Amino acid sequence: MKRRHFLLGLGAFGVAGAIYQRPRDRGAPYNGYFAALNAELKANGPMRPSLVIDLDALDHNIDTVVASIAKVPGRHLRVVEKSLPSPKLLAYIAARAKTQRLMSFHQPFLNQDAVHFPESDILLGKPLPVRSVEQFYRAHQGPFDPARQLQWLIDTPLRAAEYLALAQGLGMVIHCNVELDVGLHRGGVTPGAGLAEILSVIAAHPRHLRFSGFMGYDPFVALVPRVLGSPTELLGKVMAIYQTAIEQLRREHPTLWREGLTLNTAGSPTYRLHEAETLSNDLAVGTGLLKPSHYDLPTLADHRPAAFIATPVLKATGPVRIPGLGQKSALFSWWDVNQRETYFLYGGNWMADFESPQGLQANTTYGRSSNQEIVNASARAGVGVGDQVFLRPQQTEGVLLQFGDLIAVRGGKIVDYWPVFA
Ligand SMILES: Cc1ncc(COP(=O)(O)O)c(C=O)c1O
Repeated sequence: MKRRHFLLGLGAFGVAGAIYQRPRDRGAPYNGYFAALNAELKANGPMRPSLVIDLDALDHNIDTVVASIAKVPGRHLRVVEKSLPSPKLLAYIAARAKTQRLMSFHQPFLNQDAVHFPESDILLGKPLPVRSVEQFYRAHQGPFDPARQLQWLIDTPLRAAEYLALAQGLGMVIHCNVELDVGLHRGGVTPGAGLAEILSVIAAHPRHLRFSGFMGYDPFVALVPRVLGSPTELLGKVMAIYQTAIEQLRREHPTLWREGLTLNTAGSPTYRLHEAETLSNDLAVGTGLLKPSHYDLPTLADHRPAAFIATPVLKATGPVRIPGLGQKSALFSWWDVNQRETYFLYGGNWMADFESPQGLQANTTYGRSSNQEIVNASARAGVGVGDQVFLRPQQTEGVLLQFGDLIAVRGGKIVDYWPVFA
């Protein structure tokens, strides 16, 4: 073959190969669920970025958790407040799950919990600085009785001494739950000298400190790569540490042991695995009830996504154009069918993944925006100005606080608006 023909052939082959490798069309219109939600929000929604809670999916998730927890007699669900940061959302869940137990992580929320849930039993999920604890007592109002209903979390002997001094100064009793390091290595104590020291401080000051149980959080059991151990093996190690701590308590301080201590563990990723053990009596679950995208885990396969960001399309401007590139921008939409339509959204840049219609993508060449985010898609996505784009939050605790009142939806219809924590 002549050299010129060979090169032409090679060129044609290259172009054909490149075309073959072009991104496929990922666009698809709303399914029935999101078509109905879009119609409802267009007719009755606030037409600004909103956080929608699907009560049908939430009910399903609550019932799934309750059924699992009921498998072990005497076990209780504790709802993780920071992951569901709206008093009405928490009240809804607590009523359906028939629990009064909350886990709190933030002093201002804790003060609001005490007002909204005067009958609740609250366990702190992290050890707050003693000045923050003092703030709680100074701001506290209403019938919620901290001396009976609140368990602070103690992670070190120093923290125990600080809380003791506070309790003495305020002339009150403080309930102390001890944080165990069951393998997460986020602080807390392991059985042995550290635990012994904390328990001794508590036991020596019964007028001001009262031991109320242990908290050992174990999400890594469901999250670490399988080569580090199966969930069953890892949970076995967690519960062995837990058991050793209880044995140490009963051996060294039998007077601190009583039925009804709060033996808390788990979180959304692992609650289900605890069906296999009967030592713990209090499981914390929050985020899994809404199932944001980072909770697409095998242990939560039975849960349904129940929280979506919805935001209106403000502008539709056709094939993508990059500022300063002029006609050369056409290369992008020629190459990628998913860049043949461009939309600008009301808001954006959230910790979230595009959900519906399908095939929407951010454009990092153009840049992200919290004000008017660019989104590209193929024509098959089929949205226009005034339609809603739906995203799934990746987590809930920060994202739910960014939209004002949550919009509660049932059967595709708006049924309520729920303020979030201030
Ligand atoms: C101590 C503790 N328990 C339980 C949880 C579980 O929360 P969620 O179910 O929202 O993942 C957390 C989450 O951070 C935690 O820190």
